[in-house]
Amino acid sequence: MTVRHLLTDLDLTPGELTEVLDLADHLKAHPYAIEALAGPQTVVVIFDKTSTRTRVSFAAGISALGGSPLIINPGEAQLGHKESVADTAGVLGRMVSAVVWRTFAQSGLEDMARHSRVPVVNALSDDYHPCQLLADLQTVREHLGSLAGRSLAYLGDAGNNMAASYLLACANAGMDVRIAGPAGHLPDDDVVAAARERAADTGGSVLVTTEPARALDGAEAVATDTWISMGQEEGTVDRTSLFGDYRIDAEAMRRAAEDAIVLHCLPAYRGAEIAAEVIDGPQSVVFDEAENRLHAQKALLTWLLVESGLADAATADAVGAVCRRGHDR
Ligand code: CP
Ligand code: NVA
Repeated sequence: MTVRHLLTDLDLTPGELTEVLDLADHLKAHPYAIEALAGPQTVVVIFDKTSTRTRVSFAAGISALGGSPLIINPGEAQLGHKESVADTAGVLGRMVSAVVWRTFAQSGLEDMARHSRVPVVNALSDDYHPCQLLADLQTVREHLGSLAGRSLAYLGDAGNNMAASYLLACANAGMDVRIAGPAGHLPDDDVVAAARERAADTGGSVLVTTEPARALDGAEAVATDTWISMGQEEGTVDRTSLFGDYRIDAEAMRRAAEDAIVLHCLPAYRGAEIAAEVIDGPQSVVFDEAENRLHAQKALLTWLLVESGLADAATADAVGAVCRRGHDR
């Protein structure tokens, strides 16, 4: 059996994405129903950048699955300065059941996966944040009732990891995804092409534009993210004047659907990418979205172990029952 990883949002087929989301809903309703990490088995969670949600949701989720989280904070491991990714992967695979890694270069994650005998999960890289998108899609489905055909607009730094993940994950879910940002801060052409290709299979659609109004027009979900991602703090560009037209405020929300939901992966900067009255207002679902990191990642870890042939029979049976039920819907 091939070991399965989640390095980008397209590492799951559309059907697999539905399975993970169904499992996430099941684990939200029955938090201790599946003990995929009974033993307790250890999952290592390595951070090269800081974190609140990712750290806590993985730690709590791994514990709730009967496992033991090992958190490695920035600078604490030999990885990155004294030891290669390949040797690290070789060692970790002898000791842990999965490797979760927040890092800078996507190529590091690819290298880790290439040398790993256990699942590797991207907990945010410079290029993608696929765990966040699992939680976002779970949240959109909870609030809008479905994903396929639903519209989502992302405004702001459209060249960052969240914009790329919205593009890919929403296309994978068959959604109508619109991404708006200033010229020079739009998703890479190859990411847009990959999203369009996946949307052609799922019935979704993709719009990348510099015009915020085109993205917002009637959108059922509206999302944004910080204008300064981790690693960009030292830049000299005046990002407030660069991204100001893409702020999510009351005026922007008037262009979206009347009952549109508002997403933000957090941390948020009120008054910059999003107005306080919007993120703290009745349309905001950002704390449901944050909570769903827990459920979605528990589902992901469980699903990856089953699909990699690394789960026990009870876990495989439990996952099979939930996912079959989903297929029958
Ligand atoms: N949304 C998110 O990944 O938050 P953290 O950086 O706090 O993990
Ligand atoms: N784009 C942000 C997301 C934080 C969760 C960053 O990379 O810092």
